[in-house]
Parts: sequence; C-alpha cells; structure tokens
Amino acid sequence: MIEISEPITTERLVLRPFTAADEAAMLAFESRPEVARYLYNEARTSEDNARELAVRQGQTALRDEGDTLLLAVELDGEVIGYTLLTWLSERHRQGEFGYVLHPDHGGRGLATEAAREMLRLGFEQVGLHRIIGRCDPRNEASAKLMSRLGMRQEAHFVESEIFKGEWGGELHFAMLAREWEAAERPG
Ligand SMILES: CC(C)(COP(=O)(O)OP(=O)(O)OC[C@H]1O[C@@H](n2cnc3c(N)ncnc32)[C@H](O)[C@@H]1OP(=O)(O)O)[C@@H](O)C(=O)NCCC(=O)NCCS
Repeated sequence: MIEISEPITTERLVLRPFTAADEAAMLAFESRPEVARYLYNEARTSEDNARELAVRQGQTALRDEGDTLLLAVELDGEVIGYTLLTWLSERHRQGEFGYVLHPDHGGRGLATEAAREMLRLGFEQVGLHRIIGRCDPRNEASAKLMSRLGMRQEAHFVESEIFKGEWGGELHFAMLAREWEAAERPG
C-alpha cells in the first residue's frame, strides 16, 4: 500500500529507511538507558543493536495489516533517531505511530517534526482514518509531544500491565483524519 523509495525531506530533517551504514549512529542512542527507560526493549548492546538494525532495514513498506514502516531520522547527514508507523487495521483504517530521538538533540522540536511527518504519511498517503500513540504515564516528554501535535488524550490505563518488573500504565492519544486536515489547513 505504501513503499518508501525516496527520502522524505522536512524543514530540518531527512526521513529514510535504515541502512547497514547506520549501525554506529543507531547504537549511539539505542545503548542509552534513558532512551530505553519507557520502551519495551532494554538499552541495546552492540549485538542486539545489529540484530534490530537488520529488522529495521526490512521495515520500508506497509503492504499488509500488521506491517510496520520505520524510518531513520537524519539531521545534517547523521542519524539521530527514528519514527515508525504500524498498520493496525485495514478494515478500520487504524494505525499507531512512535518516535525516538537521541537525547543530545532533544528540546528543539526535532522529534515533533519527524513524528508529524509520520502522521502526514499515515493520513495523506496510507489513507488512515485514525492514528494512535501510546506512552507510559511517566513519559512526560512523549505525552507532551503528542499534545503538541494536536492529538487528544483518550485514555489513561492504570496498572494495566507489568512493565519492566513493576506495574505500569498507559496513556492513549489519538487523532482522526479530519482533525489532521483541520490542523493542517492554512489560516
Ligand atoms: C519522546 C522524545 C522523542 C521527546 O523528545 P523531545 O526532545 O522532548 O521532543 P522534541 O524534539 O519534539 O522537542 C520538544 C521540545 O523542544 C521545544 N522546541 C523548541 N523548538 C521547537 C520547535 N520548533 N517545534 C516544537 N518544539 C520546539 C519544545 O518546547 C519542547 O520543549 P519542552 O519539552 O521543554 O516544552 C524523547 O524524549 C525520547 O526519544 N525519549 C526516549 C524514547 C521514547 O520514550 N519514545 C517515546 C515512546 S512512547
């Protein structure tokens, strides 16, 4: 349904599939404990990172429900993070997005810029009706990012799962295609 063959350029960033040459840049943020704190993976070792990179190199298209499209986020030729979109349901046109940024590049709106582009792709190219994002309630930076994008907090699940050995919850944010169009409309 969508395949990324050309890099996508935003104001400050380039979004494109990961390549084998990205291993060191990817490890630079994937190995940071503060990056993994609210993700399901732990801080990655170089072996784990290499395995994950191989998976990501294949995540270049959404062909079937369940597929994930994952794009490296490049700033001035350096990979500083990634953003992803998972096709949750074909029938209901639902997707879920996500984002990770190297902490050295935080606080400048770069993750927001990359994530906004993933919403654009999901709504305008894939034709999704609704895109959700989920985060740990303690992950304030992530919740703020989704609010900044104009997403609506729809739920706060309390102690809904065991996360890294303790009870964890989830915030669910969402945006509809018509809300995206209204937010993007000039004026
Ligand atoms: C979640 C994460 C990507 C957010 O990073 P971030 O640096 O807060 O996000 P951005 O790059 O969009 O920067 C936003 C900040 O820059 C500021 N900013 C500066 N210029 C900006 C601009 N042009 N546009 C938007 N924000 C701008 C914003 O005010 C905000 O600062 P604030 O939080 O003090 O209000 C990051 O914390 C991360 O990678 N965490 C680890 C992985 C993770 O948890 N991912 C999410 C899983 S649910």
